[in-house]
Amino acid sequence: MDKIVAENRINFLSDELNKHNHNYYLLDNPTISDFEFDKLLEELISLEKQFPEFYSTRSPSQRIGGGLTKEFKSVKHIYPMLSLSNSYDTSDLIDFDRRVQEGLGIQANDLFGSSVQYVCELKFDGLSIGLTYKDGNLVQAITRGDGMQGDDVTTNAITIKSIPLKLKEILLPDFEIRGEIFMSRPVFNQLNKEREALGDALLANPRNAASGSMKIQNSAVVASRKLDCFLYSILTNNSSFKTHFEGLDSAKKMGFKISPHTKLVDNIQQVIEFIEYWNVERFNLPFDIDGIVIKVNNYKQQLQLGFTAKSPRWAIAYKYKAEQVSTQLVSIAYQVGRTGAITPVANLAPIALGGTTVKRASLHNADIIEKLDVRLGDFVFIEKGGEIIPKIIGVDITKRKPDSIKTIYITHCPECNSKLYRNEGEANHFCPNDLECPPQVKGKIEHFVSRKAMNIDSLGGETIVQLYNAKILNNIADIYTISKEQLLPLERMAEKSATNLIAGIEASKKVPFERVLYAIGIRHVGETTAKKIAKKVKTLSNLIQLNKEELLAIDEVGETIADSILSFFVDYKNQQLLQRLNNAGLQFELSDEQKEAGSNKFIGFTFVISGVFNKYSRDQLKELIELNGGKNSTSISSKTSYVLAGENMGPEKLKKAQSLGVKIISENDFLALLN
Ligand code: IVH
Repeated sequence: MDKIVAENRINFLSDELNKHNHNYYLLDNPTISDFEFDKLLEELISLEKQFPEFYSTRSPSQRIGGGLTKEFKSVKHIYPMLSLSNSYDTSDLIDFDRRVQEGLGIQANDLFGSSVQYVCELKFDGLSIGLTYKDGNLVQAITRGDGMQGDDVTTNAITIKSIPLKLKEILLPDFEIRGEIFMSRPVFNQLNKEREALGDALLANPRNAASGSMKIQNSAVVASRKLDCFLYSILTNNSSFKTHFEGLDSAKKMGFKISPHTKLVDNIQQVIEFIEYWNVERFNLPFDIDGIVIKVNNYKQQLQLGFTAKSPRWAIAYKYKAEQVSTQLVSIAYQVGRTGAITPVANLAPIALGGTTVKRASLHNADIIEKLDVRLGDFVFIEKGGEIIPKIIGVDITKRKPDSIKTIYITHCPECNSKLYRNEGEANHFCPNDLECPPQVKGKIEHFVSRKAMNIDSLGGETIVQLYNAKILNNIADIYTISKEQLLPLERMAEKSATNLIAGIEASKKVPFERVLYAIGIRHVGETTAKKIAKKVKTLSNLIQLNKEELLAIDEVGETIADSILSFFVDYKNQQLLQRLNNAGLQFELSDEQKEAGSNKFIGFTFVISGVFNKYSRDQLKELIELNGGKNSTSISSKTSYVLAGENMGPEKLKKAQSLGVKIISENDFLALLN
């Protein structure tokens, strides 16, 4: 393709993708299918690879992440990020309104009922972010930090689809816009479901999940967290807007996600009505709010009121109280997960709380039970905060019966009676009987057949239980010995469903290696990690031979994952299962096409990458090196073949490379080598 044609096509594809992104994530009105979107994106990525001179760091291709942030740079805020003072009841709000009127020199309670216009907004429960735009392009994203300086999290913010990389319309040349990054409830629940399946610690609430996600160094993982962002204030020296509401309207036109629930009201009475409305309705939102923010609408009035040392005088937050009730603890049930992790659950006398009837609450682990000193028959206080399952926050000691007995945590598995163990540093107890403990066996099979693993959707949860009870299915390898003759006598199993089931099992033999690696259920090895490992090792037998040090050298593999992989393969029972799966014909290697992607050009060469690059991210460069047979290393030694140097390469590294006589090449030199 000719360069000019390529440039035009890249520009066209970028604009198209930005438009469809806006339609999908802001207007909730997609006009093309996901498949068509992915095709456009793939074309853009491939053109950018061929013509790196037209690649931009704000290209829609960057939304999928891949950039690594070693250390988040601390950056000073141009406008300090202040906080809001809080109010908790109507009288606080009336006081606020009086202070505002006095500050503006308005005679309160005058005959004409003079009043101030306020904007009422939801108070989103996430982490605040300041985004700077220059000439319509996102330049930087900074967290709040201590209010004076925050962390530069631009690489991660780019992966949030509701944050525009390029504005739809430029209504202001340079400005900062602030808002809240958050994780929606459905995304949070799904994430915790996945973490539970992997045996990873659950995240406490969407707020922690959002702020934790923004601290992750690998932006591809951040992209998978599906964060969202509402914007709520524009900061600029040169605007023609007269009011905050007008500013929000323009922000919406520029392409920002502005909450549709923001309301302009004429007096404090209407503010109170707004607060009362959302006190009930907040439970129907797909995200958490912890209150309402009230802002004086007129910018001139805001200026006149000014700030105290900590917060603006023209705004206030109203905090909803977390609703609390007391109910009786009837029993404690101990659930066993796929990985054998034990979760204690409190069964409560049913009680209404926050619009639903609550019957259960999580007790998390032995330490929490110990700390609360919760006992059977106790009246406990429960609260619905950010968490979907209510929390027990304490015991009403005044109602405790004198003969109550201290709760003793179980020592044996409630399902198979094996003695439980607890690893040092881990919160949960575990049942060791992974091959026979019923919920573990069924859970492992359910994980194995799930959509992102072997995708045998004809083998649903109920059928697994049926086959398990009939002793046909005792482990994942048994799936490949199931015959139609075994299936037909089962209840609700007709000829057609039996044929479907067998066909589904047969088809799963073609599922690629990386998904097989995920399906076999090595603790802590999720979908993304499995992909990375498969790409690196190419075959299962290669993986089995790696020692800890070699495992740690794989991208995304840290201590916990490396130890988990080693203990999985060392287990004789797992070796037997793998042998049977291999005999059944599952893919234990990458396909030839997967292996052949790339070349052998860099075999025997070790690269050290340092600095910041223009055309590719560091991760992309690393991938290019590996795809072409080369190795990446982080430290320069006499074994280093090339140092690939970008801008701002560390002076120490430079000195070392020079003293060892290692060749230093630029990004362009590297691309020339490659081609
Ligand atoms: S306006 C001067 N509007 O609540 C501060 N803040 O302490 C102006 N928040 O740190 C903030 N939703 O992270 C504003 N609609 C909203 C908000 C909001 C959530 C957060 C924000 C801020 C904290 C206030």
